[in-house]
Amino acid sequence: MKILFYNHTGQVSGAERVLLMILARLDHRRFDPVVICPEEGPLLSMATSLGVPVQSLPGLDARFTWRVDRLLRYLRSFFLVIRQLRRKVIQIKPDLIHANSIRAGLVATAATLGLETRVVWHLHDILPRHPLSTGVRVLAFLCARTRMIAVSRAVAENFGGARAGLKNRITVILNAIDLERFQSNQIARQQVLDELNLGERHPVIGIVGQLTPRKGQLELIRAFAKVLAESPKAVLLVAGAPLFNRDHEYEQLLRDTSRKLGISEQVRLLGARDDVGAVMQALDLLVVNSAAEPFGLVALEGMASGTPVLAPALDGFVEMIEHGVDGWLVTPGNEAELVAAILELSRSSELRARLAQAGKKTVATRFLLDRYMSELESAYEGRGASKSKANATESTIKSGETTKFVELAEQ
Ligand code: GLC
Repeated sequence: MKILFYNHTGQVSGAERVLLMILARLDHRRFDPVVICPEEGPLLSMATSLGVPVQSLPGLDARFTWRVDRLLRYLRSFFLVIRQLRRKVIQIKPDLIHANSIRAGLVATAATLGLETRVVWHLHDILPRHPLSTGVRVLAFLCARTRMIAVSRAVAENFGGARAGLKNRITVILNAIDLERFQSNQIARQQVLDELNLGERHPVIGIVGQLTPRKGQLELIRAFAKVLAESPKAVLLVAGAPLFNRDHEYEQLLRDTSRKLGISEQVRLLGARDDVGAVMQALDLLVVNSAAEPFGLVALEGMASGTPVLAPALDGFVEMIEHGVDGWLVTPGNEAELVAAILELSRSSELRARLAQAGKKTVATRFLLDRYMSELESAYEGRGASKSKANATESTIKSGETTKFVELAEQ
């Protein structure tokens, strides 16, 4: 089966890491992949180095906005990309397009109007409240050739809402991770601690991910100032770099805020790291502080690294973490609770060890790549997957049971 993977940006964040993981693991005897993405950013060369044929297309310039002038610019960009993708589809003749975001799904669906190509939208996003969101859902619903894979039930519910017709076309396949990249490695851990000159400083608390307001680094820095008042030897590592839009200004805001709070010594901005596993292992506690998170790969990476994870009780996190068992959940946006949880966890090494151990077990039972690939390949082939381990708790959205793509091609 020939699959065209289309990604609307060449930057690599969570959705692209999942894509690269799929490309690395796809059974090449059964599936023949080709990737199409923009030239700007590292994705193109990363996919090429996996031995997958890659072609480029201009980047898609489109975001949700209320500004009409911008909307018109984005519309132009959509048309340009749609036209070029259509040409490539006609030339490549894929059996299926795996569109790796809602935006990619829109482009791929429009680019194949009048053709019979099946399109799978891989939903890694939560749609904002915006009149255009309704338009996106209507288009997805009207086009019978499309199916959706959601990275969590939260995403599926956000996209499908109460519309039964749409819900039936969404399959939840919870993300997985490549455990090998996150195996405990005491040497790598020590190297990170030495490099950062952390010596006897503890606890080492960290937040990992691109620097952007949605990830809540700013609120964590503010909360951390209160943690320091009680636990003066603590240090906060902020790993990640700005990737999109005006996020470099956010990075500056993080620096300015630490300075104003008088804690720049204790808040270390590490920038982008390619040894995320080692950084995670150097932490006593990984804090995730996102205001919304379709899935939240970072929490899974922390669990796989054997690091206890503290996360907000929302979206993807409640589907992967059981509070007090394999991680710790707090009310989103509640600073006092966050501060108290950081203090409680940093004071009890037994509690941390218990959570970390159970976290590793959770990853090993529910989030392995083999489970993921077999659910995904079943979805591509239109076979019903066996009951998914990751989706053990049932919801109204179809989970782990793949809708029949074969039927849909004939509609
Ligand atoms: C996107 C989401 C993130 C998710 C990732 C992989 O980056 O924002 O929550 O973990 O995709 O699905």
